[in-house]
Amino acid sequence: MTEQRPVTDTAAQPVLPDAQTVTSVTHYTDRLFSFRVTRPASLRFRSGEFVMIGLMGDPDPRTGRQKPLLRAYSIASPSWDEELEFYSIKVEDGPLTSKLQHIAVGDQIILKPKPVGTLVHDALLPGKRLYFFSTGTGFAPFASLLREPETFENYDEVIVTHTCRDVAELTYGANLIADITSDEMMIELLGEENLAKIRYYPTTTREKSAKMGRITTLIESGELFTDLGVPPLDPATDRAMVCGSLAFNKDIAALLEAAGLHEGANSEPGEFVIEKAFVG
Ligand code: A2P
Repeated sequence: MTEQRPVTDTAAQPVLPDAQTVTSVTHYTDRLFSFRVTRPASLRFRSGEFVMIGLMGDPDPRTGRQKPLLRAYSIASPSWDEELEFYSIKVEDGPLTSKLQHIAVGDQIILKPKPVGTLVHDALLPGKRLYFFSTGTGFAPFASLLREPETFENYDEVIVTHTCRDVAELTYGANLIADITSDEMMIELLGEENLAKIRYYPTTTREKSAKMGRITTLIESGELFTDLGVPPLDPATDRAMVCGSLAFNKDIAALLEAAGLHEGANSEPGEFVIEKAFVG
């Protein structure tokens, strides 16, 4: 369910340090939601980067003072968007997300306008095929990159894998792909030919769906490549961006390295890059 309301001047009055105003909130499941906030005029970022966002914590019982409670969040919106979008998990006893999940339109959050991150095109060498490997809320940076024209310019194919526990958890990613491939403005911006490069490969591990299994297992068995009709991973042609839990990132990195791909960074581009999906 999405709550949306135009932001009025009064709603946009900042009272917190680095405050931004919530403009919409969408809940997908009891574990996942997304929201949009106003964008600070000074904030420039590269699609795929993250910022620190949060709320004021509870008052210290002794001093009564409140400290900001901040976590790293990938920006899920593209660099050209006038608002900022975030995709978040709800952790019942998570210091931040237990509160953040209750935000409503007009509320304020703290946003430090200092973007950083490794899931950026500059950190990859040129290639033919770009893979986005994600689990859970690790889809967020790819929601940004999939709306960025540069993503498509240098590749023939953009293969987007997303593994979640159940089908409902795939909704945010599935909606995003359906939207960008059907919305007139997005088709004009990204180009019909470019959008045709997207190969979406969602999988579930705990509920029956069209494709089941961890993506790591499907890579190891070769099923991913057979399903897509593409050759196995090859450092000469394939590039990858990875975002998920620590264990997922480690397992995918091992598979990419076994195929001869090397991790890159902003300062030294390579064949794949990794970012942790942040929770808490
Ligand atoms: P599984 O259900 O087998 O644990 P979560 O919601 O716990 O973050 O997990 C998101 C998805 O990522 C789940 O489908 C989960 O599969 C999968 N997953 C978790 N760890 C790994 C891993 N090390 N390698 C591949 N997939 C993983």
